[in-house]
Amino acid sequence: MNLKKFVLCSLLTGALSVSFTGNAYMAEAVSAAAISTDSENQAIYSLDFDASKNYTEESKTVNGQVVNYRAYRNVVYVAHPKNKGAQSMNIFIPAAYFDNGKINDYTKETAPIFMPNGVGGYMPGEAEEPSEKGHHGDGANAALVALSKGYVVAAPAIRGRTTIGDDGKTYVGKAPAFIVDYKAAVRYLRHNKNRLPAGDTEKIISNGTSAGGALSALLGTTGNAKEYEPYLKEIGAAEERDDIFASSDYCPITNLEHADMAYEWMFNGVNTYYMAMWQLQDLANRGMNVPGGQAGKPGLPPKAPDANAANNPTASKQEVQMTKEEIAISKVLKDAFPAYVNSLQLKDKQGNLLTLDKDGNGSFRDYIKGKYMQSAQDALSRGLDVSSASWVKVKNGQVVDVDLDAYPAAATRMKAAPAFDKLNLSSAENDEFGAKDNTPKHFSAISKQYESKTGEMADSETIKLMNPMNFIGNGKAVTAKHFRIRHGAIDRDTALAIPAILALKLQNSDVDVNFYSPWNRGHAGDYDLPELFNWMESICKAK
Ligand code: DHB
Repeated sequence: MNLKKFVLCSLLTGALSVSFTGNAYMAEAVSAAAISTDSENQAIYSLDFDASKNYTEESKTVNGQVVNYRAYRNVVYVAHPKNKGAQSMNIFIPAAYFDNGKINDYTKETAPIFMPNGVGGYMPGEAEEPSEKGHHGDGANAALVALSKGYVVAAPAIRGRTTIGDDGKTYVGKAPAFIVDYKAAVRYLRHNKNRLPAGDTEKIISNGTSAGGALSALLGTTGNAKEYEPYLKEIGAAEERDDIFASSDYCPITNLEHADMAYEWMFNGVNTYYMAMWQLQDLANRGMNVPGGQAGKPGLPPKAPDANAANNPTASKQEVQMTKEEIAISKVLKDAFPAYVNSLQLKDKQGNLLTLDKDGNGSFRDYIKGKYMQSAQDALSRGLDVSSASWVKVKNGQVVDVDLDAYPAAATRMKAAPAFDKLNLSSAENDEFGAKDNTPKHFSAISKQYESKTGEMADSETIKLMNPMNFIGNGKAVTAKHFRIRHGAIDRDTALAIPAILALKLQNSDVDVNFYSPWNRGHAGDYDLPELFNWMESICKAK
């Protein structure tokens, strides 16, 4: 960044706060100041965006192409934030639009708005920044690629399960706060559609990975649903629509109250597991017992799982045995899954009903098998060697079968049963559904029934508001027109059945869904930016 220009611009607007940490120069342009206070002396932030103030002009390079853009940072997007930093967003606008220019056939009126969230592990999400280094060390990240293609980027920070209010007292980011914030950010953009220098608020595309993928799916499925209204009012969100155009969801950790069953339908019989390093740290940070006596690292700041850092979050090398109780509940959960799947009446593209018998076999299982077969076949067709995947059967250069019984041992289990709603309330999800005093809660009937101690159940409305399945096809919410859902073929943070069920339910409700399980991908996102942007271009430019 050009420091001189930055300081000058900031001084002109009178909104510069500077601090020195050692030799490091840190400056923050505070775009939104409280404009007044209410009767209880609480700050009120303006919902009116002012494009004339508090920006910097920046440039970065993508594939040798210089990308110039204007950056507005730390824009508070609600009138009554619980945590100002966590309810602010960054808005980046390609410079060409300030001269009425065109990029990639888009004008300032037609430029789509790319809206990535940085949520992982149900932790607070930071506002994304354009970067020349992508998450996978292979070129620009999604925000910078978006700018290079003429998209406006609106990147909100979002409250998460460890967010404490600006009052320093209560936990203000427990469920359903993250979806309330994402909606509020959409409403802020719509409220300012005539004040924003560029961007078509009817072409908002969300993007997220893992818990952030779940969030992106929720935003895409719950447009304008009235159930969220009291929460939006409480934080002073703009009174606008919050439906979006399209939703991109990488490995969504979603449908949490049914994810335990799906996990055991897949992994029952594998009785050892390898946790992710972020889980060990998360448990240690929260003073929880770490299974297998593994060392967590107490005292480290809470950190979201680094789903994007590599193909897979780093896994512990230590194999941990499931307890007798965990093995017993695995069977209970596995046996409960068919009734859930059958209740959904899902159909494939040909209209065949996808069901399971009491042993967990049937057309739904064949459908899942087909997804893995397609993934392996595509890899083979691209010339990749799939022979190390013992569960894939190849004959004469064709994938002829996938052994779903052999898959779980090969992929390995990451989570003991129950995978999500832990009997001792130790999971990230128990924390996400926790109380304002940080007490974790249950969210699924089976775990609650099994639990002999004191764990409370989250209230049913909160559980409802966290699951996109409750809003698809019921006519009471506006669903995004387009979805792109990815879940890697070796991802075992949740079972493939979970994103598959989401994709099928959307497809059965006449939504355009692009769902795929990429070969050799673990729990990660943004690993296929050329394809992601091809998809975005195709839906934005369709006549
Ligand atoms: C994430 C991963 C998990 O395995 C989980 O249970 C919750 C969140 C994540 O990477 O965001």
